[in-house]
Amino acid sequence: MSNESHAYRARILHFVDNPLNAGDQAWQYFEDGILWVENGYIRSVGHAVDQLMTLPTYVSIDNYSDHLIIPGFIDTHIHYPQIEMIGAYGEQLLTWLNNYTFPTESQFGDSAYAARISSVFTDELLRNGTTTALVFGTVHPASVNAFFSEAQQRGLRMIAGKVMMDRNAPEEICDTPETGYHHSKRLIERWHGVDRLQYAITPRFAPTSSYEQLEKIAYLFKQYQGLYMHTHLSENTNEVAWALQLFPEATRYLDIYDNYGLLTPRSVFAHGVHLCDEECRRLAETGSSIAHCPTSNLFLGSGLINLNQLFQHGVSVGLGTDIGGGTSFSMFKTMDEAYKIQQLRGATLDPFQALYMATLGGAKALDLDTRIGSFRLNNEADFVILDLQATPLLKFRTPYCKSLRDLLFVLNTLGDDRVVKRTYSLGRCVHNRDGATHL
Ligand code: GUN
Ligand code: ZN
Repeated sequence: MSNESHAYRARILHFVDNPLNAGDQAWQYFEDGILWVENGYIRSVGHAVDQLMTLPTYVSIDNYSDHLIIPGFIDTHIHYPQIEMIGAYGEQLLTWLNNYTFPTESQFGDSAYAARISSVFTDELLRNGTTTALVFGTVHPASVNAFFSEAQQRGLRMIAGKVMMDRNAPEEICDTPETGYHHSKRLIERWHGVDRLQYAITPRFAPTSSYEQLEKIAYLFKQYQGLYMHTHLSENTNEVAWALQLFPEATRYLDIYDNYGLLTPRSVFAHGVHLCDEECRRLAETGSSIAHCPTSNLFLGSGLINLNQLFQHGVSVGLGTDIGGGTSFSMFKTMDEAYKIQQLRGATLDPFQALYMATLGGAKALDLDTRIGSFRLNNEADFVILDLQATPLLKFRTPYCKSLRDLLFVLNTLGDDRVVKRTYSLGRCVHNRDGATHL
């Protein structure tokens, strides 16, 4: 944590509510604003003219004209071990898992290897302005120890867990109901609630867990306060058919998890591309969330999610990159593809709604909206400074924007990692595009 009081003057935008509920009241925008951060937490945000009247004289102000400050991005679904195989050619989910994913993940019993990949992965998150992520490890406890060590060293707020899977995968990356339970328990006791780290129980997806394993998972989930449950759901039609074949008592895919009490406000299901109304209703009723992963859904040919169906049922939806099924760490690219998916459905996605899902909506999906995702008083100061002139095309295009909505949409469409000038975590600069990072 930084032992300082510091203010940042720029355009500032953050959400205080979901635009679906609150319309234009859902966000606050200060064309010339000041964000005041003290000892790692938000002290105030507002118009510069007002802030300048009250800011103590000891607070130094950094000026960023033609920049936009927003809360750090929140990635609600990503696999850190898969960075090595991002962009693997030519398959849909089930063959992609067998041909690329499982061989790659088999290497993570090696702590040194896991540490090296964790470091590259975390650099990449921060370069893209992502300050919190819900992260899959592999079946090996070493994978989670390596990732949490890296995140702890950098003072980041991260959630992760060891994959649990005891069938339908190569033996060397399977656990058993007993080892999966005991290894997860040990990791929970070592990491859950330590600094800014939290643990997610992580069954890969229903087809790779036996009934016995799901029973152990249900038991473990109740044993500790504040744990997350993170898995995949209804991503691909062949996967859905297979899951229902393996669990014949389930009428719908979601029932498999529901039957074990795994639907809670701390449950995050990646994808949910092929859901019926009843499944949406049950997700909303239990406060469970969907992590929508557009670049992955397109890359793996999984399908075009019906976001309006989820919104109409009141399901909480965050955005995920799903690296390495997904093809970019950038939340700009993710918002861009999310929009295009809705276009292909004959619908649209408002840029405010997209940015909400990438920030406060993601925090809500992770049940962390009282700590991150907005510039509320006393929130943790995780934020990014975006350069609106980062590329020649943006520099040329942005002056033609007639409104904030126009500007956001252009940013979503043309933006990428080059736009992220600086990333701050708990008030400290953890990525500086143009020079040294002060860790
Ligand atoms: N379903 C089960 N495992 C995976 C995975 O690693 N990636 C994706 N996209 N879907 C999955
Ligand atoms: Zn995934």
